[in-house]
Formats: sequence, structure tokens, C-alpha cells
Amino acid sequence: MSSEVYENGFMESDVLFVFPSQALRGVLGKEAPINLPGDKSLSHRAAILASLADGESTVDNFLDAGVAQVLLRGLRQIGIHYQLEGTRLIVQGVGLNPPSKAVNDRIIDCGNSATTMRLLAGALAAWGIGGTLDGSEGLRKRPMTRIIEPLRRMGVEIDDIQGHAPLRIFPRNTPLKPLDYQLPVASAQVKSCLLLAGLAYPGVTRLSEPSLSRDHTERMLQIMGVTVRSAQGSDHQHLVEMQPPSGKKLFPLRIHLPGDFSSAAFLIVAALIIPGSTLVLEDVGLNFTRTGLLEVLIEMGAQIQIEDMRLEAGEPVGRLVVHASKLRGVSVEGEIVARMIDEFPIFSVAAAYASGISVVRQAKELRHKESDRIHSLCHELKKLGAHIREFEDGFVIEGGKRLTGGTVTSHQDHRLAMALTVAGLAAQDVVRVEQAGVIRESFPRFVETLRVLGAEVLE
Ligand code: S3P
Repeated sequence: MSSEVYENGFMESDVLFVFPSQALRGVLGKEAPINLPGDKSLSHRAAILASLADGESTVDNFLDAGVAQVLLRGLRQIGIHYQLEGTRLIVQGVGLNPPSKAVNDRIIDCGNSATTMRLLAGALAAWGIGGTLDGSEGLRKRPMTRIIEPLRRMGVEIDDIQGHAPLRIFPRNTPLKPLDYQLPVASAQVKSCLLLAGLAYPGVTRLSEPSLSRDHTERMLQIMGVTVRSAQGSDHQHLVEMQPPSGKKLFPLRIHLPGDFSSAAFLIVAALIIPGSTLVLEDVGLNFTRTGLLEVLIEMGAQIQIEDMRLEAGEPVGRLVVHASKLRGVSVEGEIVARMIDEFPIFSVAAAYASGISVVRQAKELRHKESDRIHSLCHELKKLGAHIREFEDGFVIEGGKRLTGGTVTSHQDHRLAMALTVAGLAAQDVVRVEQAGVIRESFPRFVETLRVLGAEVLE
């Protein structure tokens, strides 16, 4: 990929040429020549919670990619000291007292990352300091009312542009108010923002969400000494209650982050749809709130073995062994949608190569991701000959036919770029993926990894 960096931080003119590939084979892991990137969601939480902890934290296998760098720069602006040596992050936590360099009038650039913006908003609220959170054109389009409204209820003063960034958060001179709040949509970013803010409230913060979103923040808070209770309510709501420790001190972290299941997902589907492939993925995060795609693929007929499951720093981790498989269509709706929310671009590729019809419903949240993913994935897969139709809350795809070659674009969405690359590996002819530099936001060694496994991709 060319190295020309544009204003928004990624490389807009980058193109990948993806060739129909032979079987993928290989092992990925700590001991192998190439590893999976550290989990993006856990990297965000680890960097922010380590900053809020009392003392020095060490986080290994920290994600070394665009979004994590943006977050670290933001934390530095706030006055947090850290060192990143390879993928080891060492953070000098300041506790819940405002960091020395309160930002009040500064602009913190969150790049293209809504997770960075929403979680930093929670951290600023906890520290009681001000700052303006801004980012790329794409990020300015993402909905922020979902954090603004509950943060205001807690007594945080925020200026916004009709529910969008830039968000100006004002320093807080009064104690936080208690929060008992029902999230209108299941969202781990919103839940985490409010839990982070709630760390500065001495009593219980109560949240509920319509279905269970990823629970990494809850798990990490628990290993830092915070009491967190989760339960399923009578009306199918998922409840979370958090009580900070008396004295409000959080233990520092000493953790090794698992490989990102959401990055692994691209390799898993590539191995499934390219005949003769076998892939072994070591140390993959297998948290139930993230692995909806695994369940769906297995229902589609995928041969995937889950081995060596264990808990590491409160997170389930294991090995996946994947064999190329004949897939059949499936229907996806209900609670599983939140548990595979980032995997719909690559799911749509699996569905395109599966026999029969696949339907996705109740997935309207996909319209609020790095791109409007319902529209962008339907639009791009059609260019490769897929029979796919958009619904307001999902899509239907009639699979079973090998996709054609063609030129597609990522819509500046890293997951769409990687999904289209995988689509190209099993296609009849060359697929040209435009705006592919955005892949560096979450999986900088994606192309190199595919090549190590035997794929033919040119930059
Ligand atoms: C994330 C939560 C998800 C996901 C995003 C990362 C997180 O969004 O799409 O990529 O780290 O909390 P939701 O807020 O919709 O759950």
C-alpha cells in the first residue's frame, strides 16, 4: 500500500489486487511466525482503565494499529504517561484524581474511532475534566446522543452539534448524580462510557440494555477490584450494577490480551470458503458476547473445532481449528445480532458462498458503524455478482454461486475492506479493493498474514 497519508489519518488511494487463491494453510499464534492482533475492544478498555488505576499497569499484546494509536495520543493529551514497547503497553495510572494536564480547552482527535470517543467521554466525566472530542468526517456522522443524554443526567455538561461530534465536555465542579438508566439500544460503547463515568460516583450505577452487548468492561473492572453484578431481567433486559470500591482506588492491570476474534473472523471465513484450507488460530478471545459468528457458521455447516478453552485475565481464550466446509444459508436475528455486531460484513461473504438463502433481520444498528454497513456491503457485493437485497434492518442474500471479479471500495470501513478482500480470494477473477489502507485501523498485518497462509494479494 502506498504511504501517502491523507488528512483524516488513513490512505484514501490505497488499492489491493486480490487473486483467486489456492488452499490457505497455517498456524497463527504467539509461537508461530505471525500472530493475531490484540483485541481492539480490550485494548481500548485496558489503556483507559489503566489510566484510571492507582499505579503502573502492564498490558501485553496491546493492539498495534491505527485506532489504538489515536486513543493513546488522546490519553497523552490528557496528561497520562505511558510507553509502548512493541506490543507491551506500560501506563502510569493517575487514579480518579484529575490528571495534571487537564485539557479543558483542547481538542482531542479521536480519528475514525467511535469507541475512542465514547470511552474517553466517560473517562473525562470520571476525572471531572473538560475537553473537546472530535474526529474524522465519518466519526462526526456517528450518533452521540446515546452518550450525551445519560451523561447529562449524571450532571456532566456537554455541548454537541445536534447529537454529533465535536463534543465539548465542561469541567465538573459538582459531584456526579446517581444513574439508573435503560439504554435504548444494546451498545457496549455506551454501557462502557457510563460505567467509566460511574467510577466517580460512590454509590451504585445501574444500567440495563435490551440484549447483551460485549461485557469486557465489566470483566476488567472486576479484576481491578470493582464490584460488578450482571443479571437477566424478567423482561429480557440485561442488567448491570456497578459499585466502586470504598476509597475509589482501582488495582493496576497486569494482563496479556487475547487475539481479536473480530480480526480472526476474516481468516476463519477465508479458510471455510477456499476448498482444501486448514487453519489453526491460537490464543483467540472467545468471550460469548463476541462469538455469535462462530455459532452461526457452525449452524451453516462449518467445520470448526474449539480447543484448549481457558480463562486469561477474566476473558475466555482458546484455539480454533478451521477446515474448508460446504456452507448452507441461515437466518440471523434476535439476541445474537449484538454478539456478532462487527461480523456482518464477513458474514455476508460466507452467505454469498453458502448454498441457499441467508436472511439478516433486526440489525439496524449496522447502519451506524464505520459505514452504513447494510447499504455498503449490499452495494459492493452486488458489484461482484452477488444476489443481495437490502432491508431497513438487514439484508437477504441468495448464495451458492462463485462471485465474479471486479472493482469494489471500502467506504473507508476497515471491516468492509477486509471482507471484500476475502470475497476476492474465492472469486472467479481478480478483485480490486479500493480505499484499502483503512485496514490499518485494526489489522495492520492483514495482507501479510493472508500471504503467509498462501493467499495471493498484491498492493
Ligand atoms: C465496541 C462495541 C461495538 C462494536 C465496536 C467496538 C466496543 O459497538 O461495534 O466495534 O469496543 O465497545 P456497540 O457500541 O454497538 O456495542
